[in-house]
Amino acid sequence: MIDTTTKVREHYAATGLTLQISSVLATVAPDAATLTVAQLAPLDQFHLRGIVATEELASAAGLEPSSRVLDLGCGIGGPARYLAATFNCRVTGVDLSPGFVEAATYLTARCGLSDRVTFQAGDALHLPFEDGTFDVVFLQHVAMNIEDRPALYAEVRRILAPGGRFVTYDLVLRDGDVLYPVPWARDASTSFLLSAGETRAALERAGFQAQLWRDDSRKVSDWFATTMAGPPPSGPGSGLNLGVVLGPEFRGMTANLARNIRENRLGVVSAVLSRGV
Ligand SMILES: C[S@@+](CC[C@H](N)C(=O)[O-])C[C@H]1O[C@@H](n2cnc3c(N)ncnc32)[C@H](O)[C@@H]1O
Repeated sequence: MIDTTTKVREHYAATGLTLQISSVLATVAPDAATLTVAQLAPLDQFHLRGIVATEELASAAGLEPSSRVLDLGCGIGGPARYLAATFNCRVTGVDLSPGFVEAATYLTARCGLSDRVTFQAGDALHLPFEDGTFDVVFLQHVAMNIEDRPALYAEVRRILAPGGRFVTYDLVLRDGDVLYPVPWARDASTSFLLSAGETRAALERAGFQAQLWRDDSRKVSDWFATTMAGPPPSGPGSGLNLGVVLGPEFRGMTANLARNIRENRLGVVSAVLSRGV
């Protein structure tokens, strides 16, 4: 039988993604032009509220130029590039999808950030890093794809240095059945959502203490009702959106996600947790 990690990897297979991204980018900027993090934000922030959510979490995380940062489940690298460009720190991105890692590496070179941001393929449950390698670990919209939550949180704690911080931005179960497909899963077989209380209890059992624990569900439903409402954008640059990453099912998946939030089936929690010493 096919294991869940393989099924999740297939969901994010991204065959030919880098080529597709480069042809969409050709409509925005010549090949030789250096791109900015802000220019790519409609395409490369693969979570609710986009770059605004990354900015909020990053400012709560207390990053410094000397911080060694891991972006776990980094997607095509938008958050990792934002952190390096804004705080001048070094960021490593790890993702299950080799296609995403290739696209992340390409986009980082186009932004002139390859000296500070690197990517590698890997599984969050088996990270190729020594104990205590990082000061800060980011995990944005990834935990819902991982069945063994205790193993995930134990692995994050292992690679954090004493005093390190774990920054998470998670979808959580609220009330009622979840409607599928959604951007992270075509059906419930690759979706492992917990409630906010279960998520916090699993984190505390792993040894983390919450410094910030915030319910952002209302902000997300307002975002769907305002920023995401209305017809799709048109004109130059309008092709630069998450539809390039997720393909033609993107609009239907996003509509289901909006409904899950609006009908209180799902919520969203932002947290900064201390590893302790
Ligand atoms: C919704 S995307 C979020 C990407 C990125 N964090 C962002 O916010 O732009 C979820 C990502 O988690 C990755 N992922 C899922 N399970 C993983 C695992 N076990 N190890 C590493 N990455 C994983 C997927 O490949 C995908 O890129």
